[in-house]
Amino acid sequence: MHLHKYEKIWLTFGIVCLVAFLSIVGVSAFAQDHTPAGGMHTIDPEKVRETAPFNEPGVKQLDDDTYQATIVASAFAYDEGEALQVPAGKEIIFKVTSTDVVHSFTIDNTNVNMMVVPGQVTTKSYTFKEPGKYLIICNEYCGTGHHYMYTEIEVTE
Ligand code: CUA
Repeated sequence: MHLHKYEKIWLTFGIVCLVAFLSIVGVSAFAQDHTPAGGMHTIDPEKVRETAPFNEPGVKQLDDDTYQATIVASAFAYDEGEALQVPAGKEIIFKVTSTDVVHSFTIDNTNVNMMVVPGQVTTKSYTFKEPGKYLIICNEYCGTGHHYMYTEIEVTE
């Protein structure tokens, strides 16, 4: 009988631990869902066109030294609003998402090489040193038109 009592205590202790553990896991999963880390956040891929900033793709000046370039990738093109044009020497924050499948947003001759996943907003900040025209290509096989998926960004003085 004595042992049985201890077993009960341990069993209760075990259940309490399990419940505590599960609620910690549950709470942190919930918290992560609401405070995503690393500049990634989620978006309804069905509603990209209605969700800011993707309802108005293009370049927007945020302050003296910062611009935001919003781009929607879909098979097999990038929608960057009017022509992508940004100044050299300023921070450009790229925000890209996809409406369909996985693409990439890769700017030739730079270290910008982002994977673009439907349901996620990928953010990358980059400062162009040299003015000129840069090719933007899709590096992620996305279907029959993959090789024709590209656009251009013009970096001005
Ligand atoms: Cu888009 Cu390959």
